[in-house]
Amino acid sequence: MRPGARVAPMTEHHADEVLAIYQAGIDEGEATFETLAPTWSAFDASRLPDHRFVALEEGTGNVLGWVAASSVSSRCAYAGVVEHSVYVGAGARGRGIGRALLDALFASTEAAGIWTIQSGVFPENTGSLALHRAAGFRDIGIRERIGCHHGRWRDVLLIERRSRVVGV
Ligand SMILES: CC(C)(COP(=O)(O)OP(=O)(O)OC[C@H]1O[C@@H](n2cnc3c(N)ncnc32)[C@H](O)[C@@H]1OP(=O)(O)O)[C@@H](O)C(=O)NCCC(=O)NCCS
Repeated sequence: MRPGARVAPMTEHHADEVLAIYQAGIDEGEATFETLAPTWSAFDASRLPDHRFVALEEGTGNVLGWVAASSVSSRCAYAGVVEHSVYVGAGARGRGIGRALLDALFASTEAAGIWTIQSGVFPENTGSLALHRAAGFRDIGIRERIGCHHGRWRDVLLIERRSRVVGV
């Protein structure tokens, strides 16, 4: 990440900015099937507390981007598998913030014994795919017309990063 920003744990203090960046990313139309950002209480309840981070602008403390992860299953075999989201505000992209947020997530999840991080990405979201592939995610495969988005059935590319240090 270029100078001028730092990564910190996400707290309730960041809620409004996190949700505003989320909604702006949603509104761009290539990030997610969601159409409305959740309330903070819904966001807070569904994301793992130890695996959520913000990038903050030095000086102002403004939130530039965030990453968070959720459990994918209550089954014991999948206890170390999570699904993540990463969003960077449009004005802060191309500065290494997305990558720094992913690196923070890799460190926190591996320290907690989590072995796989997965996500579903629209194939049209070439920026996100480039970020994730460069960070060590691999393509699993395309889920065809898996969901309907603004009246259009869309494919999702499932990607994952398997830890090389946990559960090897
Ligand atoms: C995808 C997203 C998180 C990338 O964040 P970012 O801070 O701009 O990414 P970084 O600057 O850390 O990029 C790291 C690397 O990813 C790749 N990359 C990121 N954005 C890219 C783009 N638009 N086109 C091509 N490559 C891109 C590059 O390899 C880049 O390295 P480089 O700058 O040395 O070439 C951001 O564009 C975003 O929030 N988009 C909207 C929300 C979204 O789609 N989230 C993902 C949902 S799956």
